[in-house]
Amino acid sequence: VFRRKEDACRQLALDVAGLIESINASGRPAVLGLATGSTPIPFYKALIELHQAGKVSFQQVITFNLDEYLGLPREHPESYWSFMHRQLFDHIDIPADHIHLPRGIVDDVPAHCREYEQAIADAGGIDFQLLGIGRTGHIGFNEPGSPRDSRTREIHLDPITRQDAAPAFGGLDQVPTSAITMGCGTILAARRIALLAFGSHKAAIVKDALQGPITDQVSASFLQEHPDANFYLDQEASAEL
Ligand code: F6R
Repeated sequence: VFRRKEDACRQLALDVAGLIESINASGRPAVLGLATGSTPIPFYKALIELHQAGKVSFQQVITFNLDEYLGLPREHPESYWSFMHRQLFDHIDIPADHIHLPRGIVDDVPAHCREYEQAIADAGGIDFQLLGIGRTGHIGFNEPGSPRDSRTREIHLDPITRQDAAPAFGGLDQVPTSAITMGCGTILAARRIALLAFGSHKAAIVKDALQGPITDQVSASFLQEHPDANFYLDQEASAEL
């Protein structure tokens, strides 16, 4: 628990920069799983600052994002492709062909999801996965009922999730109804996981995830069984623990 979200994000950015350096020193690229939403923005800002200070390079980093809205082209301002370029990729030295996100416009969704899983496996699996948490307890877009062993697939978005996204889209009717998300099983296979949650509106679900029963009704509760998963919270998000 940190006093402010900026403190949590600076600490995590230092940890991730150290991880990239030590993996690169062992002679291979570091594989990062990344998240979108408002929560990780100060984390990406801290990574960019470390990069600009010459303290971390992303030349030997491969990224896989958790999810993408179905039906949105990459150029749409609310696509996660656009978000990631705006918030991180445009400001660091990552090679364009090291960046992976599910596609929002795709003919054969199941085939695309299989290819995404295969690309993660071909990269050697995810070294570090960044997560936020939705008010439904979702990690990625694994809404209540997502099985523990689920893999990358199409998911119907929960009404609460769509409501939370409505302001950014300028109205509920503009929010896509489905997405492609890594599954709980895909996420849990990451070697190290950090979940960020900030603000009082996350306090109740943070308590359920950390101290409630392990259940598919709260996907984040599966993290209780992961050998190297940490929550980075501010005081407001930790208020009910
Ligand atoms: C984002 C994602 C989601 C968000 C969650 C919280 O890629 O997969 O799980 O992390 O919806 O969103 P914010 O941070 O906007 O509260």
